[in-house]
Formats: sequence, C-alpha cells, structure tokens
Amino acid sequence: MEAEEEKKILKAGEISGKVREWSRKLVKPGAKIVEIADAIEAEINKEGGRLAFPVNVCINDVTAHYAPKFNDETVLGEADVVSIDLGAHVDGYIGDTAYTIDLGGEYGDLLEANERALEESLKLVAPGVSVSEIGKTVQEILEDAGFKPIENLSGHEIGQYNLHAGLSIPNIKVPYDWRVEEGMVLAFEPFATNGYGRVIESAQAEIYGMDEGVKVRDREARKILREMEERKGLPFAVRWYAEKMSPVRLGMVLNQLSQQEIIKRYPPLHEKEKGIVSQFEHTVIVTEDGCKITTK
Ligand code: CO
Repeated sequence: MEAEEEKKILKAGEISGKVREWSRKLVKPGAKIVEIADAIEAEINKEGGRLAFPVNVCINDVTAHYAPKFNDETVLGEADVVSIDLGAHVDGYIGDTAYTIDLGGEYGDLLEANERALEESLKLVAPGVSVSEIGKTVQEILEDAGFKPIENLSGHEIGQYNLHAGLSIPNIKVPYDWRVEEGMVLAFEPFATNGYGRVIESAQAEIYGMDEGVKVRDREARKILREMEERKGLPFAVRWYAEKMSPVRLGMVLNQLSQQEIIKRYPPLHEKEKGIVSQFEHTVIVTEDGCKITTK
C-alpha cells in the first residue's frame, strides 16, 4: 500500500472513530432520529471528512440500511436498542464504524457478547487467515452467550469509492476458504440478535447507490444526477435531495432511475422474527502480522 493512500485511510478512520464517540450523547430517549443523522453527518464534514454513506439509525429489529426520511417523525423510546452506523471518506478512502446503545438497559448481555465477538475476531486477523475461521469465532461467542449472529449479513472489504469490494467476512462458519491478505482494508461488523438470525428486506428504500459512468438524459432527473454522480458510486440518502424538488417528484425520479437500473435501491433490513439486533463495527488495515484498527 502506498504511503499516501494509507494516510488517507487512517485519516478517514480517525474521523469516523472520533465522530462515533462524539455521537453517543445524541442517542437518548426523545431524540428525533433525523436530527441525530443530520448532526452526525454535519460533524463528519466539520472534521474534514466526506460522507461515505448515509448515517444509519437502526432501532430494535431494524438491522441495516435505515437512513431517516427527510420528514421522519421517529423519536427514540425509553427502551429502544439503537445502532448507529457511520462512515467518513477522504478522497474515496473509507472508515466504516458502528455501535449500539441499549437505552432501556435490558439487553446488556446481547451487546456485551456482540462487542466481544468483534474484539475476538479482530485478534484473529492476519494474512492467510480464513474468513470461515473468523465467522466460526463470531458464531461461537454469540451462541455460547445464548444469541445468534445475523447469518446473511457480513463484513466486507473496502476499496476506494467502493464500500463493498471483493472479500466478505461472514459472521458464521462457512464452507469456503477465502483468505485475508496483507494490505486489505476490511470492515468487521458482527450483528447479534435474540431472534432468528436472518434479515429480510422491508419495502421502502431511503438509501440508493448509483453506478459510475452511467449517462442519463431525463431533464428532471438531471437536477439531482450530477450530485449522485459526484459520489462515484457511494450510497446516498433520499433525504439529502429533499430540498431539490418536491417529495412526489423526487420519488418519481428515483423510481424511474431504479427501474432503468441506473441507481440501485438499498431497502431497510429487519430481523426475520423481529428479534432485537445489535451491531459493532471497526475498519482495519491488514498488516504483516495482524491488523491496525483505523476507526479506534
Ligand atoms: Co458500517
């Protein structure tokens, strides 16, 4: 890895980790989730990063891909389990990190096991280690504690302007033998639940992504396409464009673009049996004999 590249990866990680810690105070009963997401996104920019993806605020059985709507009225409840997933990028080099807060104090065991699964899996990382070995460790820790990993979500390799590049890091034992390599940037994100251990898609997407290099002629769509294009494939929230045109128009444009397969939808994912879900995540660079956590 080139020094300049590594510097940017570390910077993106540092900003992500710093904003993660800063954001904890925002997560409290009565807080409006759209305000939490807006504040975190503003803080990432203030710290000199750009948004690698929309801030996710996932409550209870909602597991991933939930970005608040522009007019979202959702307020955190006294007993909600809230996961915040955020990421900064510097010239496309990404830090991706997440944590969960249990506002009611009822799910301490779940969160503790989840955090431990992340820590222990990071200790295993080194060139040549099989991702199945990592998944097996996560699965065992969670199952020994009486919980389940979300089997159909995984950690992922990260490339420049590419949130999901190449290698997947499963959270269960898998029957294949992909291996970690030196220099890889990897996001480890075990999800734990007291439910079934799978996620399914909900209907309405608030997060989209666009493939690079696609040309669109539609005049209405062009109003927002330039900004989407500037993200070079990184995901965006519908909320970010809510002031560019009326919500109805925006919905139509997004529908049309996704039907034409110009943009891709990322619908919210929730636990199959409405189990409570937690998530902890760090980004690392794989080194010669281990890994360096960028989002500490
Ligand atoms: Co993440």
